[in-house]
Amino acid sequence: MTTPHIKAFFDPATSTLSYVVHDGPGGGCAIIDPVLDYEPGSGRSSTASADVMAAFIEENRLKTEWILETHAHADHLTAADYLKGRLGGATAIGERIPRVQETFRKIFNLGDEFTPDGRHFDHLLADGETFKIGRLTATALLTSGHTPADLSYRIDDAIFVGDTIFMPDLGTARTDFPGGDARQLFRSIRRLLAHPAGTRLFMCHDYAPAGRPVRWETTVAEQRAHNIHVRDGIGEDRFVAMREARDATLAMPTLLLPSLQINIRAGRFPPPEGNGVSYLKIPMNAV
Ligand SMILES: [Fe+2]
Repeated sequence: MTTPHIKAFFDPATSTLSYVVHDGPGGGCAIIDPVLDYEPGSGRSSTASADVMAAFIEENRLKTEWILETHAHADHLTAADYLKGRLGGATAIGERIPRVQETFRKIFNLGDEFTPDGRHFDHLLADGETFKIGRLTATALLTSGHTPADLSYRIDDAIFVGDTIFMPDLGTARTDFPGGDARQLFRSIRRLLAHPAGTRLFMCHDYAPAGRPVRWETTVAEQRAHNIHVRDGIGEDRFVAMREARDATLAMPTLLLPSLQINIRAGRFPPPEGNGVSYLKIPMNAV
């Protein structure tokens, strides 16, 4: 059996973890949740963070086979399209992504140029679908709740959990974005926590509470014993009441509106206007 090599990359601007998973130097790799840097004040994007990932891939002579999204993120722009152009590989996301695309097509009043059928991605992954990353076998797990289309990726004894569960002292992902569902998130998390106790869980975000160092790796056992929102003994109704009360206090992420416009297009910018410039929209009082 081949054990995955896992390299984490932390983006301090958005507290996002991205990963390169590979089967050894010179082998195949997948990129998970890469970040495209974006400065909302100026509308400028930068590939500095993605270039660090690309340099790692090049140094290790890895062949990029997949660029995987756990979901259409609302807090950062994806660098999937940039990295695909630089390194190759197929972009993939959950097969329910058309639901998210349709929701935001309406919010942004996108015209005929945007068809909400998932065509922007090279491959849409079904629940339970398996695929190869070099000699590794990966399985997509539907873990909806944060959005209707969230996937986690299981690769050997590691699961990349996306926005489901956070480190035990942080709890769980929010469920108040359009299409979110706290009850569904609870069931998805219990699905993850039904894996063997030693299964390694890799986070999508870490906000380093109380000044502790950033952490991104935990285990099923640690989560079941200590997660402040979903440890063993906390039932579905109690979780849903907690999650919904807490979500009501949270502000929308700074990059929600820019992110979704890029991320439902698999990282491409909207078509440029007559002057060659691509524009993002801000809907007033719609979210
Ligand atoms: Fe998210």
